[in-house]
Amino acid sequence: MGAADVQELQEKLDRVERALERSERIAVASRFAGAIMHEVNNPLEAITNLVYLAREQRNEPELVLEYMTTIEEQLRVLGRVTNQALSYHREQVEPKTFDLVQIAQSALKLHADKLSRHGITVDRHFRGPALAKVRANEILQVVSNLILNAVDALAEHTRRISIRAGRCSGCVYLAVADNGPGIQPSHVNRLFEPYVTTKQAGTGLGLWLSRRLISNHHGALRFRTSQQGKWQGTTFRINLPTAD
Ligand SMILES: Nc1ncnc2c1ncn2[C@@H]1O[C@H](COP(=O)(O)OP(=O)(O)O)[C@@H](O)[C@H]1O
Ligand SMILES: [Mg+2]
Repeated sequence: MGAADVQELQEKLDRVERALERSERIAVASRFAGAIMHEVNNPLEAITNLVYLAREQRNEPELVLEYMTTIEEQLRVLGRVTNQALSYHREQVEPKTFDLVQIAQSALKLHADKLSRHGITVDRHFRGPALAKVRANEILQVVSNLILNAVDALAEHTRRISIRAGRCSGCVYLAVADNGPGIQPSHVNRLFEPYVTTKQAGTGLGLWLSRRLISNHHGALRFRTSQQGKWQGTTFRINLPTAD
């Protein structure tokens, strides 16, 4: 193969990688949209009911006032949800200073419904602020991937996920740990390759994209997983340069 052929092949490969990255981003965005709809739906339902009640009991001003107060509260909840969603959604080009603890909390909130449906206990160990200059939507995407992988791993076990965030020397970290069965030995060395998945409906693109996003931020994404020891489970850890 001549040098020109090799270059052409390389260019094709680059194009395929970019297309792959785009498609995975779109898949993640649609999952986010679903989770956000859920958060919007609860207060909306509450407001609908309260408006109905207020109309039914319009001859009792005291009650109506009470309903209005609750409606106001629910509207504030709605405002918070949409604001937060928007702050992550705006295409962020320039990195800004963010607290990893806040990003972790947003990710947990985003998946609160799924976590509780699966009966998963979440331990939070936050020693913030853990400031880093990041494109927050991308970091949120990575954390979200890690949480969803942890949920998948926990399918048939006593379900526990622990999330840590804090400062290290010259860096900040965010770690997601689960007490699942660990990563299959045959896959340990290939996790970050595209299309490597053990799931029926998996894409095998989550960790591949996550590592790319983290290295674009000059950080590292590493993991530890149990063999046949006393400790059981898997931990993924993001390290990023501190903004301080
Ligand atoms: N927390 C975890 N515990 C066990 N295995 C994991 C965990 N996270 C990832 N894996 C393994 O890594 C594979 C690749 O993950 P990922 O790139 O996110 O793709 P997908 O989730 O679509 O399979 C998974 O299919 C699974 O086998
Ligand atoms: Mg995944």
